Amino acid sequence: MSSPSTNNLTSAVDVLILAAGLGTRMKSGVAKVLHKLDGKPLIAHVCRAAAKLAPRRIYVVVGHQAEQVQSSVDEALDDKATFVQQVEQRGTGDAVLAAKDALAAADSTVLILSGDVPLIKTETLHQLLATHESEKMAGTILTVRMENPTGYGRVVRDDAGGFVKIVEQRDATEEERQIREINSGIYCFDSKKLFAALEQVRPTNSQSEYYLTDVPAILKRNNERVGLLLHPNVREVSGINTRAELAEFENLIRRGNVRRLMLDGGVTFIDPSHSYVSGDAQIGRDCIIHPNVHVDGTSVIGEGCELQQGSRVVNSRLGNRVTVKDHCLIVDSDIADDCSVGPFAHLRMGARMHPQAVVGNFVEVKKSTIGRGTKSMHLTYLGDATIGEKVNIGAGTVTCNYDGKHKHPTIIEDNVRIGSDTMLVAPVKVGKGSVTAAGSVVTEDVPPNTLVAGVPAKVKKTLTEEQS
Ligand code: UD1
Ligand code: CA
Repeated sequence: MSSPSTNNLTSAVDVLILAAGLGTRMKSGVAKVLHKLDGKPLIAHVCRAAAKLAPRRIYVVVGHQAEQVQSSVDEALDDKATFVQQVEQRGTGDAVLAAKDALAAADSTVLILSGDVPLIKTETLHQLLATHESEKMAGTILTVRMENPTGYGRVVRDDAGGFVKIVEQRDATEEERQIREINSGIYCFDSKKLFAALEQVRPTNSQSEYYLTDVPAILKRNNERVGLLLHPNVREVSGINTRAELAEFENLIRRGNVRRLMLDGGVTFIDPSHSYVSGDAQIGRDCIIHPNVHVDGTSVIGEGCELQQGSRVVNSRLGNRVTVKDHCLIVDSDIADDCSVGPFAHLRMGARMHPQAVVGNFVEVKKSTIGRGTKSMHLTYLGDATIGEKVNIGAGTVTCNYDGKHKHPTIIEDNVRIGSDTMLVAPVKVGKGSVTAAGSVVTEDVPPNTLVAGVPAKVKKTLTEEQS
């Protein structure tokens, strides 16, 4: 099912995301919307939900750490957002006013979102827009009822249930604080009426800020219609204001990801509460995931794999029936069917294993290809290497790929046996079927079917078919 877009609405829709605040309650040097949830900045979640609506344009108000926020948005929206600067953070009303030049004459419906409300669903936004349009409102506010509404703006209704005003927690009377219905901070407005009303907002509140939340009451006063849409899902429209809330959301999302994989994906988790799978990752059926395993980013794991405890897989692909033993780190790598990795292995920067290859205890593989059925079992560094099929790499082998200035390649052809503690001083190539003796320091290319030994390694003899 495709998500609902704005195509079936009459009015043009522009989205405005507020993301200029620092977020003092995070007690952080990092702007709140840059804090990560499920591996992505909060703002990226909001951008994604907005983009799925296919609005005419997405504007983002930036201020605190504008550059970093902009690059997060650009990454999430493929450089399609338009940025508006709020020079001084004087409140949410002032933030919207920063977009006046861009939007006041736009003649559109402006959908306002907060950069710190990450779980909002496209369907909900569409419903808000559709209600706003069909009811011919000047403004419509998405609200929810909360058990504990502390900190949120309360929605005051009249006896007939009609909208009266929004009052912030700090400015609310004891009686108003009893109200459970809160302002989600998600609204849509007729663009012209929004900016006309914003001109009338005054910072006469406990924070001396320009509150966007004063706009609906001003519209009301100007005899415009203001609608309320009460949403049933509290979590979806909750904002993140503190680190405790961030952790709560993270936990919730993670539990959801793991649960979905268990129920719909046929994946076994030994200890679901200590399993970490990103929302963008995929895991095939009959995989077994042990405790404290992380599957991050856009990793794709095939079927029947086993990921043993303490391993982390980041933006990597694993084929079918791959075993990752305890405590491995696999980043930006590609591992084919029936391979085995670890324990304590580190694969990175485009490491590539062909089927049935084995990388074992304390082996690091960087930007290297390991051929079908090749084994490197112990204490080895393979960097910038291309290794053929059925090669055996002895314990303690090192590709000396760095001369202090540049990186150089090592090529090891099919059926080679590299003896324990061999140093391969790159650039160097070991020909098909050759053997290096234990402790060799190979500084020159080795022809095919040749035994070399020593420091530096010298040719000892040519090998027959059976010997090599
Ligand atoms: C706001 C609402 C409150 C609502 C709550 C829902 C106001 C006055 N209050 O409160 O009624 O219940 O959201 O989550 O609007 N921002 C700027 N520039 C600023 C100030 C804020 O861009 O000058 C941005 C922030 O980065 C943030 C968003 O606006 O993304 C909301 O600001 P925040 O300070 O979190 O507002 P709340 O106090 O949560
Ligand atoms: Ca907030």
